[in-house]
Amino acid sequence: MRIAVAGTGYVGLVTGVCLASKEHEVTCVDIDEKKINLMSQGISPIYEPGLSELMRDSKDNITFTTDYKAAYSGADVIFIGVGTPEKKDGSANLSYVYKVAEQIAESLEKDCVIVIKSTVPIGTNDKIEQFIKAKLKRHVNVYIASNPEFLAQGSAVRDTLHASRIIIGVEEPQAAEILQDVYKDFDSPKMVTNRRSAEMIKYASNDFLALKISYVNEIANLCELVGADIEDVTMGMGYDSRIGTKFLNAGIGYGGSCFPKDTKALSWLATFNDNELKTIRAAIDVNESQKFKLVKKAKKYYDDFSGLTVAILGLTFKPGTDDLREAPSLVNIPILLEDGANIKAWDPVGVENYKKIYPTEIEYCETISQAITGADLCFIFTEWPEVKNMDVRDFETFMKRPIVLDGRNCFKLEQFRNVHIIYDSIGRTRVDYLYI
Ligand code: UDX
Repeated sequence: MRIAVAGTGYVGLVTGVCLASKEHEVTCVDIDEKKINLMSQGISPIYEPGLSELMRDSKDNITFTTDYKAAYSGADVIFIGVGTPEKKDGSANLSYVYKVAEQIAESLEKDCVIVIKSTVPIGTNDKIEQFIKAKLKRHVNVYIASNPEFLAQGSAVRDTLHASRIIIGVEEPQAAEILQDVYKDFDSPKMVTNRRSAEMIKYASNDFLALKISYVNEIANLCELVGADIEDVTMGMGYDSRIGTKFLNAGIGYGGSCFPKDTKALSWLATFNDNELKTIRAAIDVNESQKFKLVKKAKKYYDDFSGLTVAILGLTFKPGTDDLREAPSLVNIPILLEDGANIKAWDPVGVENYKKIYPTEIEYCETISQAITGADLCFIFTEWPEVKNMDVRDFETFMKRPIVLDGRNCFKLEQFRNVHIIYDSIGRTRVDYLYI
């Protein structure tokens, strides 16, 4: 099938490459010529495990262009995978989706299914249908379908090739048939529903996961006060298959391009409809304060950070990505810098993006040991495997004052039994062998 994909961010590019790997003839469209040139040479502009390899393997079935007319005019199916960033009031900015819709309307020369993969507020597919139909230049049939994306960064290729489910939201059976055909070689369960339900499935899923994280973070905060251990508590909860253990990792809150944006967007949508989503509002509030948890903890050890050397392990919002969007490091580092701390940071892939924000204010280190050498304090913001697998005795060996504040519970408390450091994590007893 001839498929065009609008937008080459995480959603668009991964979708395009995965569809090409299933022998569809795919053209990816973007306005950024630099990105198009890179991708045409087989280079992925984003860090995503397995993506470059799949791009190379599928190179005969995929092309990249800025020429949207050529890409859209003859396509059987067009996927829209452009961003829907957050506006100041929390609502979703749909300007990129509408821009693409306009370009599609002016380009179409044959019947086409237009699939909205971007996360859009409920009812957007209906509006886009009216918009495109009003702007069509030729007599062609267009069907609009909602097919939300559930990929997580760092596992985007696997999440697309082996998706937990493929949701097909349509108003006409013809559109469902064509999409079933597009996905015929994908081994995931497929569910056909109407467009508004498909749009809601995406938000309700993401917001539920965000809610789960905020819930466990609140329980973790209480565990610290009453002497319980969140790791044991969540393991005990997880034996109940109705609860499960997934997405119950306590930490310094969720970040990334989806949860923060999608919780606010659904909450905004509820308010717009004279309704209130109290649980989601609470999840947002808990997450906002949880991000500052480590800095608050640090105040137990130092009144202010002026003149201190602070090691930062992990800058990205989670491991497996170089994405910094809504990363907890971004709200903590300004506080430390403002206070006059000298920051030494390590991250295996996030440094280049960080340098765009802090080119000189931070000393970037090649290794974890370089970052912690001479430090008065160490913050762990991302649970990179390199951190989880390090020898905790290194903190004692290299730091000036070995105080480690772990926002991702990278280590078991037993690992600190004979190590002379302070280890303060989330929802667990502080390990303080320095003073025993
Ligand atoms: C998420 C959804 O998982 C995905 O299905 C959707 O399509 C897009 O949004 P992503 O943002 O890439 O994906 O990452 P995810 O792994 O879900 O993590 C999001 C944030 O939650 C991260 O900051 C992570 O550290 C945090 N998190 C996750 C926790 O704090 N605890 C957990 O148990 C799980």
